[in-house]
Amino acid sequence: MRKKIVAGNWKMNKNAEQTEDLLNELIEKMPTETDVQVIVAPTFVNLASAVDHLEFINIDVAAQNVHQAESGAFTGEISADMLKSVGVDIVILGHSERRAIFNETDALIANKVSTALEHDMTVIFCFGEELKDRQSKNHFNVVENQLRDGLFHIEAKDWAYIVLAYEPVWAIGTGETASPEQVQEMHEFIRETVRKNFGADIADNVSILYGGSVKPDNAKEIFSNPDVDGGLIGGAALKSDDFIAIVNAI
Ligand code: G3P
Repeated sequence: MRKKIVAGNWKMNKNAEQTEDLLNELIEKMPTETDVQVIVAPTFVNLASAVDHLEFINIDVAAQNVHQAESGAFTGEISADMLKSVGVDIVILGHSERRAIFNETDALIANKVSTALEHDMTVIFCFGEELKDRQSKNHFNVVENQLRDGLFHIEAKDWAYIVLAYEPVWAIGTGETASPEQVQEMHEFIRETVRKNFGADIADNVSILYGGSVKPDNAKEIFSNPDVDGGLIGGAALKSDDFIAIVNAI
């Protein structure tokens, strides 16, 4: 049975005090009974305190990035061992903002995936086409290439630690959500691509999240698609009422 997951990517938002305030609101509003895995991804400086704050709460904590090296002269970077040492064992990789703003290539992302897996971390692997790709009807190729070049080097056993997050770049932060039909069509293609390369068992059991302007008023329709197993949420994750409404929409 595939896991249902709602993850909040806080990006570069919330200082220490604001993080504590938002976590307290989420703790208060979280549904007592849910089979949805809820994840929050604060910034690096707030990870350790978030893990401590949520120790007895059914909310997991993820990092938004990790360096591919074990340690060394990489000023400003954070290693997988450092994340694990503060209790973080989930990491978002391949986000379109890492690719576009920080020039992360498929090859670099593949290295980061390997490092995270070597540390038994769960990887939320992000990918998705740009508007120009969809307008030129090249979006399926782009998505297949990102999966092949950034993720498909892993072994079958590693898929237990993989969550896929399809995020069409043109829908991120724009309010321009992909239609439920577009979402299902691409998720079905993604699952079929995994099936072709790794077999039916892995394909049928990997959670595929959608990200890109998910809001309380569109979440239910998006999540009702058979190949959508949850969402990776940006802006709406920063407001407790909106994030919990999305969690309750699954
Ligand atoms: O990683 C999730 C994020 O990119 C989606 O952002 O604001 O469109 O929900 P947003």
